[in-house]
Amino acid sequence: MSEDLNQAVALLKAGELVAFPTETVYGLGANALQTSSVLKIFELKGRPQFDPLIVHTKDAQSAFALASNVPKVALALAERFWPGPLTLVLPKRDIVPDLVTSGMSSVALRVPAHPMALELLQAFDGPLAAPSANRFGRISPTTAEHVRQEFGPALKLVLDGGPCKTGVESTIVSLLEERPLLLRPGGTPVEALLSVIPQLRTHTSDPLRPLAPGQLPSHYAPRTQLVLRTGDTVPHLVGRRLGLLSVGPARNQTGFECVEVLSEKGDLREAAASLFAAMRRLDALGLDLIVADLATDVGLGLAINDRLRRASYK
Ligand code: TXA
Ligand code: MG
Repeated sequence: MSEDLNQAVALLKAGELVAFPTETVYGLGANALQTSSVLKIFELKGRPQFDPLIVHTKDAQSAFALASNVPKVALALAERFWPGPLTLVLPKRDIVPDLVTSGMSSVALRVPAHPMALELLQAFDGPLAAPSANRFGRISPTTAEHVRQEFGPALKLVLDGGPCKTGVESTIVSLLEERPLLLRPGGTPVEALLSVIPQLRTHTSDPLRPLAPGQLPSHYAPRTQLVLRTGDTVPHLVGRRLGLLSVGPARNQTGFECVEVLSEKGDLREAAASLFAAMRRLDALGLDLIVADLATDVGLGLAINDRLRRASYK
């Protein structure tokens, strides 16, 4: 086991926070079964306590040990998608502290598909509560450097597992009712879920009607104002410094000081993987405005568009 991993386990056992890589985004981890440790997550992030956390475990068995009822569909989804970017909401057992779930009787569970995350969960030998390792409402981190930029020396250790391959957060599905319900589009495409659970209820992402607590209309937001573009129109802002964030090959680039193309091939997986880093780069330029082109609403396009809409919400 590496030096860093040893230190991470020691810190977590001592009730401290450690940031670690997952395949989606970097997480800010704490011992999920200890309220005093979990409280530090809310304090460091500046996160309101009504926004519940996802609990990460090393395997499905350890995840389901935290649930009071595990329907067959949970087993089927875990079998097909874990480890991976899927979070399942199930009724919680009493051992899960109320702070983790914002006082709700359900808990969000996930087995991440990153070797370093799994190694950490194995070595710690317990569940880790971990939100994305960014200050509340801001852009999620997809590299260790992003996490350091967010928290600086206030965070003792960031495990560096390289850039996240998926790049958008996990898909969240609630299994609390008879029919599974999509709460957040994410790294597991809805089409893949439908092949296992055709009865899944989906929704179009309406930022004003969050289905999951904490899914606020304004989220994943750069400091620079971000607007969504339909068609090729360029906002009438003569003399203003504009940036363009384009999911596929950029359509009309005139008038933009900087253009970030997420995938030249228009590949949605590649685009998702580069979304947050590109948003950060544009944000760092001190532009007057970032204009973003939406993806098509299929596959990972759903998750990308959800993040772009929330980033643009004023
Ligand atoms: O990919 C991910 O899911 C990343 C990595 C680190 O695993 N984590 C992540 O966590 O995105 P966070 O805190 O940014 O988002 C957690 C969201 C909450 O905002 C809430 O919408 C939902 O998960 N959630 C958590 N517990 C829930 C519950 N009991 N019922 C419904 N939604 C819940
Ligand atoms: Mg987050």
